[in-house]
Amino acid sequence: MRLILLGPPGAGKGTQAKMLKEKFHIPQISTGDILRQAVKDNNELGVKAGSFMDVGQLVPDDVVIGLIKERIKQVDCEAGFILDGFPRTIVQAEKLSETLTEMGLVIDRVVDLEVNAEEVISRLSGRSTCSDCGGMFHEKSCPPKVSGICDSCGGILAQRQDDNAETILKRLDVYQESTAPLKQFYKKQGNLKAVTARGSVEEIFSRVLEMVK
Ligand code: AP5
Repeated sequence: MRLILLGPPGAGKGTQAKMLKEKFHIPQISTGDILRQAVKDNNELGVKAGSFMDVGQLVPDDVVIGLIKERIKQVDCEAGFILDGFPRTIVQAEKLSETLTEMGLVIDRVVDLEVNAEEVISRLSGRSTCSDCGGMFHEKSCPPKVSGICDSCGGILAQRQDDNAETILKRLDVYQESTAPLKQFYKKQGNLKAVTARGSVEEIFSRVLEMVK
């Protein structure tokens, strides 16, 4: 099963992708996570990407397309994968289609998580992430048992660099301009399914499962 999760920042793509990964035993490929790790490692990719990410801009297409092309050819992707945060532009979507065609593969389903800007702002401004295991929390909807400490591994929780009010608004603008047009792109291909991403994480997951059946 090859899936794409679409949706604005904070729609819950990462949250749902992790649950799908557990259920179907296929990898979650998050370009955001890959890029953040590169920034943390301070490697060539991280240096290139960090300045764009900090201000809520997209990292140039050629950088992320190269990453994904390499990643989906790895052996753990043979049974499928979940793309979380890729593609984000029409160019990325076209290159993905080209690469999959060369591999004799297709995307089975594109799930669009629909949520409004007010909810996005509330979710992102309350989010904290474990610097060790990537575990994700929210001060209201999913608080850690001990403030600032990861329930799973005891690591330190931190707010993402790009989860401040100014950058969240910029990310929403960039989403509208560059990523929202992908809905039309995949609608034309006939594999887009929209899911209301309001409600509990579990409720949304059961809606997503209905769509990928
Ligand atoms: P990326 O990491 O992909 O960020 P994003 O798309 O902005 O999405 P988020 O990770 O912020 O949100 P999400 O939808 O995954 O929601 P989550 O599950 O975390 O990208 C970051 C940056 O990297 C980009 O700005 C760009 O610079 C660069 N980049 C990445 N990919 C790129 C690409 N392809 N091309 C170019 N540049 C790229 O949930 C959010 C919060 O809400 C959490 O606290 C969670 O606990 C909570 N929550 C989740 N579900 C619910 C619910 N149902 N109810 C209440 N709270 C909930």
